[in-house]
Amino acid sequence: MTEPAANSLETLVSLCKRRGFVFQSSEIYGGINAVYDFGPLGVRLRRHIRDAWWRQMVELRDDVEGVEAAILMNPAVWQASGHLTNFSDPLVDCLGKCHQRWRADQLEGTTCPNCGGPLSQPRQFNLMFKTFVGPVEDEGSVVYLRPETAQGMFVNFKNVVNSSRQRIPFGIAQIGRSFRNEISTGNFIFRLRELEMMEMEWFCQPGQDAQWFEYWCEQRMAWHESLGLKRSHLRLRPHGEREKAHYALASSEIEYLYPWGWAELEGIARRGDFDLRRHQEASGRDLQYTDPQTNERYLPYVVEPALGVDRTFLSLLLDAYAEEEVRGETRVVLHLKPNIAPFQVAVLPLQRKPELVELARRVEHGLRAQFSTDYDDTQSLGRRYRRQDEIGTPLAITVDFESLEDQAVTIRDRDTMEQVRVSLDQLAAVCAEKLQLGE
Ligand code: GAP
Repeated sequence: MTEPAANSLETLVSLCKRRGFVFQSSEIYGGINAVYDFGPLGVRLRRHIRDAWWRQMVELRDDVEGVEAAILMNPAVWQASGHLTNFSDPLVDCLGKCHQRWRADQLEGTTCPNCGGPLSQPRQFNLMFKTFVGPVEDEGSVVYLRPETAQGMFVNFKNVVNSSRQRIPFGIAQIGRSFRNEISTGNFIFRLRELEMMEMEWFCQPGQDAQWFEYWCEQRMAWHESLGLKRSHLRLRPHGEREKAHYALASSEIEYLYPWGWAELEGIARRGDFDLRRHQEASGRDLQYTDPQTNERYLPYVVEPALGVDRTFLSLLLDAYAEEEVRGETRVVLHLKPNIAPFQVAVLPLQRKPELVELARRVEHGLRAQFSTDYDDTQSLGRRYRRQDEIGTPLAITVDFESLEDQAVTIRDRDTMEQVRVSLDQLAAVCAEKLQLGE
């Protein structure tokens, strides 16, 4: 049995709050279930995750274009896409003492897991949040907060074909907020009601989607590994007939070994021409693609890798977390890859003396253009090293009194804790080599 990455979720939750990665939303009012805010370090980590995904899925490819569609869409979209009728979970109520609500498909027994009371018959509960546009709150003004970003790409398929030079096969990618009124939540930021998705719709010829599905499953597994997740904590699992979404011909999920067991990190689906066909029928617009060589007209098939920023964030922190014995003491360290870590380099003057502060500030400013940097002159050096280890900063640079004489500083490596002396004129080059940001 492969060991789950981190120890306990509670340890990570407490680190996230203490160090400013994640806060409960509206905490001073008691919070709101399954909604979280991201603090100064969390914002950096999320930005790095998004950048890494965007770079791999859009910038490094010739065949993917990006879009940013609005969260609010014409409600006809959700009628056509099937979300109004099918995007639901079976809900049961406890009829005993506690009246808690549960997802019927996640229960093992037939009684309430909390109080042992009897349960109601399951009823379908739609997960889309509703609101109204304009001043009148009636049925005619209902709109939905999107539960996936995908539909914004399907309805823009023709716009992208007509305005770009892409020819099939090609993809449309998007990163954005989505909302799901989940029945059962918990496990910190694993299942949220407000989440951020990174999705790509890959349009290909019908009949070629099975091959592209294989291709994207491999690509996506490799990406998670490249971000630093251990191979033994990842697996690809095909969905059974009953697990597939209403639009999917077939699907798989990339699972991660969370502290509570294997669970979905990313979903990859073969959506066929389900969405384009439904939108073509409902809108009356021709959404077919014309092959420029053969003039053949058809509705492309779609393969979709879809991933949550939040789940990636959680998996990366769990996987990077370690408690290590160093000279009889335990240090907490996040072994995050340099392109993901909130900061890549921290500059620390040995003491808060004006001449050291002045040089350390100058060193930090000099590195800013190339690296994401932190500067810290509070507390003892030992405590500052511990803080940087705990937030995953790969390199800590110490400016000491000798630096004023020899124009050299000490670089400490987070993982090996080795220290090397480097002259200031070599510093940026040595940092770049150590961080290996190109890899
Ligand atoms: N357009 C496809 C789609 O929506 P999904 O499997 O329902 O597929 C894709 O969602 C990914 O979004 C999931 O693999 C997960 O990473 C993330 N996700 C979905 N629901 C989530 C939730 N309630 N909280 C956090 N992440 C979620």
